[in-house]
Amino acid sequence: MEVTLRIKRYNPEMDVKPHFEEYQVDVEPTDRVLDALNQVKWYQDGTLTYRRSCAHGICGSDAMRINGRNRLACKILMKDLGRKITIEPLIGFDVEKDLLVDMEDFFASYRAVKPYLIADDAPSGGERRQSPEERERYDDTTKCILCAACTTACPITWTNEEFVGPAAIVNAHRFIFDSRDKGGGERLRILNTRSGVWRCRTVFNCTDACPRGIKVTDAIEQVKRALLYEEV
Ligand code: FES
Repeated sequence: MEVTLRIKRYNPEMDVKPHFEEYQVDVEPTDRVLDALNQVKWYQDGTLTYRRSCAHGICGSDAMRINGRNRLACKILMKDLGRKITIEPLIGFDVEKDLLVDMEDFFASYRAVKPYLIADDAPSGGERRQSPEERERYDDTTKCILCAACTTACPITWTNEEFVGPAAIVNAHRFIFDSRDKGGGERLRILNTRSGVWRCRTVFNCTDACPRGIKVTDAIEQVKRALLYEEV
């Protein structure tokens, strides 16, 4: 099928401001948006710039705004989008070129919540055991691929650069509720600030945007409840 891609382009070395360019591509209904972008880059305009790597929804490289919604280009099928598709970079980040954004602040927020196991004591019996029920407690938030779709779908992050954002809270949740971890109190204190979980207004954009189906808003609410009702 013939489809028009309307892609937001910006080259800081040449353009004063971003503009849209249109490309006609011939795709199969079951092709992904990434296949269509590759067709433009490989056969029409090699200067088009975007991130991608695995092409299978695992690495989180190719989150972008597709018809106004944050999506992974490698997971969205052409047949679900209509004949004219608008593709833009994630909003809330500086654009380096075309669909490529600067994610340094995003990863700084991620690092700020200490997204790793904190446990200084030696494990008894050689390993840190936990029951299936304990593992289940944080299972959902282990699925995050750090694509930033949730964080940049959140209207709070568009206007407040201090807010750590949904993805950082999801990754804090993954360790706060891990029975083997001893850093939960430290992470909760980090999030118990004006730039932490209390900035969240429960808009649910993050949950809608997550390509892994993580219940992001629910995870944020669990962290809020831990701050309110558990000893920190
Ligand atoms: S290219 Fe890896 S998630 Fe899409």
